[in-house]
Amino acid sequence: MGYELQLFGSSSPSGTVTILGLTVALLLTAYRMLRAPGRSKLPLPPGPPSEPILGHYRVVPEDAAFKQYAEWAKEYSTALSAATELLEKRGSNYADRPRFVMFEEYTLVPCLPRKHMADVAQDGLVSNPHLASLGSQVPATDVQSFVHTRMSIWHENVQKGLPNDFDLEDIKGAAATIAIAGNDTTAATLMLLVLYLMQNPEVQRKAQQEVDRVVGKDRLPAWDDIPNLPYTNLVLQETYRMNPLSPLGIPHASVADDAYNGMFIPKGTIVYQNVWAMCNDTSVYADPSRFWPERYLPVGQGGNGEPFPAGNFGFGRRICIGRNLAENSLLIVLATMLATVDIDWPVGEDGRPAPFEPEWSFRGQA
Ligand code: HEM
Repeated sequence: MGYELQLFGSSSPSGTVTILGLTVALLLTAYRMLRAPGRSKLPLPPGPPSEPILGHYRVVPEDAAFKQYAEWAKEYSTALSAATELLEKRGSNYADRPRFVMFEEYTLVPCLPRKHMADVAQDGLVSNPHLASLGSQVPATDVQSFVHTRMSIWHENVQKGLPNDFDLEDIKGAAATIAIAGNDTTAATLMLLVLYLMQNPEVQRKAQQEVDRVVGKDRLPAWDDIPNLPYTNLVLQETYRMNPLSPLGIPHASVADDAYNGMFIPKGTIVYQNVWAMCNDTSVYADPSRFWPERYLPVGQGGNGEPFPAGNFGFGRRICIGRNLAENSLLIVLATMLATVDIDWPVGEDGRPAPFEPEWSFRGQA
């Protein structure tokens, strides 16, 4: 079909990582002003005025704060213009995390080197018997769990009197983080896929036709089929764009003082990425509220040549370690759904499909 298929990459299309909405901790601006007088002659990034005593507590909305941040970004021109500039090019300075108090209370703070955590994402793929059974080349057995493998390394080192670069608390925290970070995210994306396929029957039909053409009717989709399902991949990319699961990303924190575009970013600044604003930027995406997978196709192929969404899996040194696992899992499940079921509106009391407008809740986003 001539579609350009971009699988499993960082989802940052070259040259087009147009970054609009990097929101630098507007919440903390007043606090930083008090803490950092005289540390730099440069001004702090601008933001809305705070209230006496309460600061920005009532200024930042509780619901869908990312929409308000996007408005402020226009008003104050605080689009620090490039998440890639700060979080990727200067990534080492923005690789820290702020405190996640609840995690700490539950002793779930992972200190394992990212390499160990990244191995897990790979292990997870081959040790999941459901996924393994779909792809004949993937062994379904003989792969021990993440915790088991790290415990063995730890134990072996202890017995040999060798130092360990992580302890049991780290293993516990890392395992919990992976479970928390990997489960709901993949499940929520699947729910969104079902919703968008239901709302867009013509997209569903087109994707089903692609799967039927490539896979045939006598077997289920397998890993080898995925690179031959470019439209199915566009459906997934459009699902990411329509609804970034973390509209403001997961906050990073800066390690040292920095200056950017004439503004001072003090050490310890909490940096959010307004992924929602990037995905809804009308200068990049035509009619962004429309579910239109073809938008990524070149103009010559009936599309709009728009870039794949950037930032849904984060940025820089903290980018999601499970993104390849997530993308592979989602594509094989999506292809299997397309091959096996028609997704339609639930049946109403009169026995006919009853379309509805879903209600969205964005509470809890900083
Ligand atoms: C659709 C699925 C997923 C989405 C949208 C997603 C998104 C994200 C985002 C936005 C971050 C923060 C990145 C940053 O701070 O720059 C993150 C971090 C993380 N993700 Fe995912 N994720 C997904 C699936 C998974 C899976 C399947 C796993 C593991 C098996 C996983 C493990 C992690 C871990 C451990 C981190 C923390 C990395 C760090 O702090 O260094 N994620 N993810």
